Amino acid sequence: MTAETVRVSPAWLRLREPADAAARASDLVEQIQPYLPAGDRALIHDLGCGTGSMGRWLAPRLTGPQHWMMYDRDADLLTGAAAEMPGAAADGAAVTIETRQRDITRLDPGDLAGASLITASALLDMFTAGELERFAATCARTGCPVLVTISVIGRVELTPADPLDARVAGAFNAHQRRSTGGRRLLGPDAVGAAVDAFTRLGLDVLVRPSPWRLGAAQADLTAEWFSGWVGAACEQQPELTVAATSYARHRVAEATAGRLSVRVHHLDLLARPR
Ligand SMILES: C[S@@+](CC[C@H](N)C(=O)[O-])C[C@H]1O[C@@H](n2cnc3c(N)ncnc32)[C@H](O)[C@@H]1O
Repeated sequence: MTAETVRVSPAWLRLREPADAAARASDLVEQIQPYLPAGDRALIHDLGCGTGSMGRWLAPRLTGPQHWMMYDRDADLLTGAAAEMPGAAADGAAVTIETRQRDITRLDPGDLAGASLITASALLDMFTAGELERFAATCARTGCPVLVTISVIGRVELTPADPLDARVAGAFNAHQRRSTGGRRLLGPDAVGAAVDAFTRLGLDVLVRPSPWRLGAAQADLTAEWFSGWVGAACEQQPELTVAATSYARHRVAEATAGRLSVRVHHLDLLARPR
């Protein structure tokens, strides 16, 4: 892990997992099944798997035996992923898994040889433009479909609205596009860049909205998301800090009381070989 690598907390991944599961575009799953080998074991590579949320969501929605290769650079997250994958597909067929601690920006097509499907979730914004191009080209060389879910697009809606919402959103998006350790992150521009890259590489790309819809039932996630959102915005624009302190206090109180509803917009994409 490099010095500037930010570790993703397993507690945060657990907290967001139900919202991600509810948000992912299920109709894209129906498009995947025809690409999986009938009667044979599908080899599925999940890139940046974290604690395995994508596998827990997708494996039981697909039929037939599956072997999941779970990649992350964080060994602790991989341990969590290995411990909690579902053991059966939709038709009861076996689901097996294997973990690989790797930097996924350095994979080459040989690593993904024989893939039936490549997946990733909540990952693209962490790439630079060069890493995204390489990721798309490496995936495209396999000739299998690529499902990338829950990519942020820089748009959030908070109800009730507050005059500071737009300023914080702008600073947060600038933070997502920051340069760190010599890398300029794509942040909310990543999904558009991915659509362009896969299309240029000759794949057919389907895009679906996959917003988080957070209300009273998700108050814990809303409060945690909101604190991180404001914190990143203030790190980007320290001059926001004074105004944002009381803003954050009353917004978190609203969230905790179930009086704040938030829509965090994302896109899911499925890139299919023609
Ligand atoms: C926001 S988390 C999402 C995790 C999981 N896909 C999910 O939906 O819960 C992003 C994950 O990508 C991993 N990651 C980011 N960049 C990576 C890289 N270059 N190589 C390997 N893993 C990476 C992080 O460690 C983290 O587990």
